[in-house]
Amino acid sequence: MEVKLLSGALGAEIKGINLKDTSDNNFNKINDLLLEHKVLFFRDQKITEEQHLALAEKFGPLETHAYVKGLDKFPEIVRIIKAEDEKNQWGENWHSDVSYNVKPTKAVIIKSIKIPPVGGDTCFSNMELAWETLDEKIKEKIKDKKAIHSSLGAEFFIDNYKKMEGNGKKNYGEYSNEHPIVRTHPETGKKILFVNWTYTKRIIGLDEKESDEILKKIFEHQARLELTCRFTWTENTVCIWDNRSVIHFAIADFYPGRGLGHERIMDRIAVEGDQPH
Ligand SMILES: [Fe+2]
Repeated sequence: MEVKLLSGALGAEIKGINLKDTSDNNFNKINDLLLEHKVLFFRDQKITEEQHLALAEKFGPLETHAYVKGLDKFPEIVRIIKAEDEKNQWGENWHSDVSYNVKPTKAVIIKSIKIPPVGGDTCFSNMELAWETLDEKIKEKIKDKKAIHSSLGAEFFIDNYKKMEGNGKKNYGEYSNEHPIVRTHPETGKKILFVNWTYTKRIIGLDEKESDEILKKIFEHQARLELTCRFTWTENTVCIWDNRSVIHFAIADFYPGRGLGHERIMDRIAVEGDQPH
């Protein structure tokens, strides 16, 4: 096995592990790597939808998306499509997936199907390091507080994107839940800064102005480049991220003459998480 670290902060590209092998022994190896590096990449993985699902199921029960329709044959697989002429794409700012749910996603296993010749890299940021390196005064202020996370409605996930389709539920509405700002990782016991620019709206117990000011400082801190890694996709790459301990950012740098004019397709499977504590 070969482990190539992606940055000083997090992330590793792994060679020599067979993702089709769903034995406990092989899964434990993958999970240990995930807990250590927080996001893993495996290039040149020609796995089928069934094999993709079998790998994801080793991590736990699978989720279906609150807003988006999965594939007809495999409802747990959401095909994320950026059309050729679209300049935007899913996830184009810092977030942790569905942090507005009572039980936010534990892990995401995504496979690249079609990748533009340039553009559309993804960045990840290490929220364990973000907590460790956060300003002490801010830490003291927020360590026992909760924050409100809200989804942004169906249009955020469907209407803004030509090829994304709703799951047919009526009365989509918004989902909103409170979570501790600092959560404890259920497998490693480490403290994690669990807020994000996209979904976290308010710190409970502070007035609006102070909440806004502190959140702004935290969001700036989380985005500091020394906490991040950046991955340039190739087709048939499988990526697994620990959605509890990283935030991510899908860069929408699709400009004329460069990334624009190309389709980008990813198959995404999400694993159910637990309630942050
Ligand atoms: Fe995302």
